[in-house]
Amino acid sequence: MAWNPARQLFSLAFGRPEERVHGPRARVEAGPAELLAVRAASICVASGKGGTGKTLLSASLTVPLSRLGRTLLFDADLGAANAHILCDVHPKETLVDVVEGRLEASRVTLRAADNLDLLSGGSGFSKMAGLSSYELQLIALGIEKLEVGYEYLILDSAAGLSRQTVAFAAAADLVVLVTTPDVTAMTDAYAFLKVLWRQRPQGEVLLVVNRTRSEEEARATAQRIRDVSLRFLGRSPRLLGTLPEDRAAFRCTQGRKRVLAAEPDSPLGRALGEVGRTLVGELSRARRKGLGRSLKRRLDWGLGGGGRNPQGGAAVDGACRSPASGPA
Ligand SMILES: Nc1ncnc2c1ncn2[C@@H]1O[C@H](COP(=O)(O)OP(=O)(O)OP(=O)(O)O)[C@@H](O)[C@H]1O
Ligand SMILES: [Mg+2]
Repeated sequence: MAWNPARQLFSLAFGRPEERVHGPRARVEAGPAELLAVRAASICVASGKGGTGKTLLSASLTVPLSRLGRTLLFDADLGAANAHILCDVHPKETLVDVVEGRLEASRVTLRAADNLDLLSGGSGFSKMAGLSSYELQLIALGIEKLEVGYEYLILDSAAGLSRQTVAFAAAADLVVLVTTPDVTAMTDAYAFLKVLWRQRPQGEVLLVVNRTRSEEEARATAQRIRDVSLRFLGRSPRLLGTLPEDRAAFRCTQGRKRVLAAEPDSPLGRALGEVGRTLVGELSRARRKGLGRSLKRRLDWGLGGGGRNPQGGAAVDGACRSPASGPA
């Protein structure tokens, strides 16, 4: 309904593309006794379009967070996981073993650095990209048990609007949506917002604009997404920060390093540090729902599993379509 006008606005504006230490806990969610366990604050790093820099950002954010408390990096690019490369570790056990019933999730975490563990989604398993509701429930149950042992959980998402990708984002305390100034990435970021907020109207989304070539381009990109979202979705994501195009990204990827650990004084490293500081402030105010617990509940309700949204919207199955497939 609001799809075509939004797409036009993007095009008009831009023309052609160019780790166990228990630190302080912020907030405990009130509720029945069995719900009082303090769970990791969860951040889902997502994007509509692939290749926007989600893994680079997720891996770097583990640096400031793991200094504050035990952190879990959950590589939820299921079947095509690669966050382990930037952490320079080689997971033998992955969520594939959980989904296939061989291991519990707690057995597939791997120590990646001080105060940092990695939970890998497995690489080279295409079936992991389209899990059944039962298989997603197995993952949700595993994370629900794991998350009481961590202060922070960063989820490095797969790109796009698949049922499981949106289900993870809808279950997280905060979503960090990564785009680039590329018009297709902006358009897909808008599509992601539209689908996510249909699933979870109150979902908190923070925007990161990556690979910017000037401050002006960074500001214009953020403003365009915020304007279009406000106009067609009635709300807009707040800007978490912008990250410059920087060769440090290539050097660190080739060297199997996290930018913020290896090159904190590069332009990209400094910008990532700023994003990390702002995010820590946001997380101190976030309500910790528990990613695994929240995902399990949503699946029980049929959300992310092909049922109806209790708030009246279509379940994610009904809402997911390719950004290119026309008005939703
Ligand atoms: N600010 C930047 N400057 C230069 N290169 C960058 C920057 N950010 C990311 N890249 C490069 O872009 C490529 C994609 O980054 P990354 O793998 O983090 O994206 P992604 O969103 O996780 O991709 P996917 O959707 O495939 O999971 C990598 O080669 C990375 O080094
Ligand atoms: Mg990635």
